Amino acid sequence: MANLKGKDILRADQFTRDEVTLIMETARRFEDALREGQMLNNMQGLVLATLFFEPSTRTRLSFETAMLRLGGQVITVAEPKSSSAAKGESLHDTIKTVEGYADVIVLRHPKIGAAEEAAEATERPIINAGDGAGQHPTQSLLDVYTILKEKGTVDGLTIALAGDLKYGRTVHSLAELLTLYDVRLVLVSPEALRMPGEIVARLKEKGIPVEETEDLEAGLKKSDVLYMTRIQRERFDDPAEYERLKGAYVLTRSLLDEAKEGITIMHPLPRVNEIATDVDAYEGAAYFRQAANGVPVRMALLALVTGRA
Ligand code: NCD
Repeated sequence: MANLKGKDILRADQFTRDEVTLIMETARRFEDALREGQMLNNMQGLVLATLFFEPSTRTRLSFETAMLRLGGQVITVAEPKSSSAAKGESLHDTIKTVEGYADVIVLRHPKIGAAEEAAEATERPIINAGDGAGQHPTQSLLDVYTILKEKGTVDGLTIALAGDLKYGRTVHSLAELLTLYDVRLVLVSPEALRMPGEIVARLKEKGIPVEETEDLEAGLKKSDVLYMTRIQRERFDDPAEYERLKGAYVLTRSLLDEAKEGITIMHPLPRVNEIATDVDAYEGAAYFRQAANGVPVRMALLALVTGRA
């Protein structure tokens, strides 16, 4: 039996398929309970700390909503300049301090590996809400949850990941999580923003058929799901390089006519210009439903790591 009590959530490749199934089933149970208007109190008496040292709308608010919907309470640092990190405090010391206040800690940080570092500093469960250009495992869990809801299954699908595959942590985590399923992956990016070689190598090692292309239209024609991403401006050393690449892909309603029938369009959001607003009315445009799915999936994660599911 899968059991996540006391575990950290650090990387998408930490999970077994049984653990993912447990998270999906728990999320589904919470979503049904919310829809029925039930008042849940699984997290009563517990405090969640959300520490966000990088901007966020969806991830922080959906974690906080999740905790509140489960009857728990929340403390937060959403403006890094307002915390002692701005005075030069180490991440280790910040985490040692917060473990005295909270039962579970959600961390977003600009440095790759920050969540692992935080996990070493405390026995409290640490949940990685994005470590720089590294990983974003809770996003990929809600992405898989979304695919299950939209498509009924993940197995057997061809999934295209498009845009900034180099710096995009959501696609790093999603690609790794999808290796637990029987999928084909199409990686669509400009040459300069390809998926890191070590991730592609791991996908192939695990037997996932992977195709890399620069051609979005070609990807659209053969995919059941298109996962678009934003070019990650904040990760570029050279602003001119960002300017050169920022318009690389724009999904428009007319381009959708070239896509495989019934294609589902996803995006972790925020979008900048990579999905035209005229796509929003397409029934397979799932990105706002995807954002809403963050609540039940994060309810499941909070309850499972604290043993309150
Ligand atoms: C993503 C992130 O922070 O990595 N946003 C999110 O959590 N939904 C994607 C992005 O910022 O492009």
